[in-house]
Amino acid sequence: MYMIAPSILSANFAKLGEEVDNVLASGADIVHFDVMDNHYVPNLTIGPLVCAAIRPRTKAPIDVHLMVKPVDALVPMFAKAGADIISFHPEASEHVDRTLALIRDQGCKAGLVFNPASGLHHLDHVMDRLDLILLMSVNPGFGGQSFIPETLRKAREARARIDAHRAAGGREIALEIDGGVKVDNIRMIAEAGVDTFVAGSAIFAAPDEDGGYRKVIGAMRAELAGCEQIGRAA
Ligand code: DX5
Ligand code: ZN
Repeated sequence: MYMIAPSILSANFAKLGEEVDNVLASGADIVHFDVMDNHYVPNLTIGPLVCAAIRPRTKAPIDVHLMVKPVDALVPMFAKAGADIISFHPEASEHVDRTLALIRDQGCKAGLVFNPASGLHHLDHVMDRLDLILLMSVNPGFGGQSFIPETLRKAREARARIDAHRAAGGREIALEIDGGVKVDNIRMIAEAGVDTFVAGSAIFAAPDEDGGYRKVIGAMRAELAGCEQIGRAA
């Protein structure tokens, strides 16, 4: 199954609850929640209080993308605030294996995030600790940037690693992409082996007349319907 994960970074924060309701009612699968600390990345966004505020509105997974350093202290706070998935950048944790274990211990799914220039070697010894690999197709910190095409090569490499892990008896790992995803490139990204698509500005800048997002999410789904899912049972 392909998953669409709107990044609420591009939502109207003055009516965030309503935005979350609208985007999910329009066919989105996951709420992507970008946490920035003005230290690891040059921007400042939202924390556990906001996560807890939107949690009661939906059963859809909340996918917390931590762009913070250090990481560990925030993990239990987001788990308590209702996060389903917590991912972090390996460069932001002194002990990546320990942080991954901490996320799982808190009852959440765990993910590692790769900046455009970060190599996939960080995966070498932790595949069995992962539920998600998140590839940044822009530099983290801001919505509305352009997709970096080199990420497609990395996606194919990550897909091969996931498939090899599965073939060796490991469990399924989602492959998510984040940054510059639009209706006109989502298909190409899926063909590189990605199954979960974060999209912020592409979705929230294209509301329907009634404030929903059915048209843009429907157009993304239509693009995805045309491609055969790689590596996973649909
Ligand atoms: C960037 C964030 C993204 C961002 C994506 O640091 O991690 O989730 O909101 O926004 P778009 O889809 O506009 O590139
Ligand atoms: Zn993100």
